[in-house]
Amino acid sequence: MRIVLDMDTGVDDAIATVLAMNSPEFEIEAVTTVAGNAPVVQCTRNSLLITELIEPWNPPPVAHGACEPLVHPLIIAPEVHGHDGLGGLLDTLPTPHHAADTRPAVELLAAIPHDGPDDVTLIATGPLTNLAVALRIDPTAMAAYRRIVIMGGAFDVPGNTGPVAEFNFYVDPEAASEILASGLDITIIPLDVTTSMALTRTALESLVQSGGRTDIPAPARPGRNLAAILYRALDYYMDFQKDQSGLDGGFMHDPLAVAVALFPSIITTKPASIEILTNGPERGRSLVHSPVDGRTVNIAVGLDESTFHQILEERVLSPVWA
Ligand code: RIB
Ligand code: CA
Repeated sequence: MRIVLDMDTGVDDAIATVLAMNSPEFEIEAVTTVAGNAPVVQCTRNSLLITELIEPWNPPPVAHGACEPLVHPLIIAPEVHGHDGLGGLLDTLPTPHHAADTRPAVELLAAIPHDGPDDVTLIATGPLTNLAVALRIDPTAMAAYRRIVIMGGAFDVPGNTGPVAEFNFYVDPEAASEILASGLDITIIPLDVTTSMALTRTALESLVQSGGRTDIPAPARPGRNLAAILYRALDYYMDFQKDQSGLDGGFMHDPLAVAVALFPSIITTKPASIEILTNGPERGRSLVHSPVDGRTVNIAVGLDESTFHQILEERVLSPVWA
């Protein structure tokens, strides 16, 4: 399965990247970055770093995308992901060896479906700014994606950016509104399912210890850079969650979007049309309406949590830490 990953590369986007690159079913055509969790310069740097640290060395092209939303000023989430998007340890992170692709993200998003049979799946785990611009400039290309899986929205659960909004849709509500009204083949992975299971610190610690690598949190050792970086990034990410809710773990929002592209049957969905509020006190809120021809999307409403956790264990936790 050919895929494109559009990401605001923070901690859970990084884990999603590892899941995608450790899944032989995928051929990753490109990673495109967008401002969200961190400024897009950091997101691009993070994607360059993570993709080149996964063995065997085979990093996909990483293309630099939108530095701000369509209308509103950029909101980032350093309290959740660190000022650099990977736990706030920018000064200790290695500098990526390979450079970003020379083409802008939107150019790749619009070009890739044209270069072969329409079997490319697009997985978007950040604000939808790049996708909205690509839809404006080349709607035929965007319609050629076989499927678009989007992490975003909150329907029957509280928001994580204010009381009702989910972060990706809050940062760029206009982009979310345009994409969700486009009639493209879209599956939405909202907080309703991504917060039904968390990666606990206990699960992570037990794996790190069982792998015998008690030095993982130490400064990155050659060959173990990825483990050290992701361990420290998750440590920061989980600390925030613990302060917020007492949960000693972290939600794997973006890895679930990748897992759904791999194994669609781990979720149950329902068709609906979605209204996104773009201004006012409920900016970013996603409202469910009955399906409307030409703007119906599939919303994930149920998750096979144990299978998702097993996918994370087999394709992320064990390869990285055991
Ligand atoms: O609301 C969670 C989403 O916002 C995740 O994709 C996280 O990485 C942030 O982008
Ligand atoms: Ca994200």
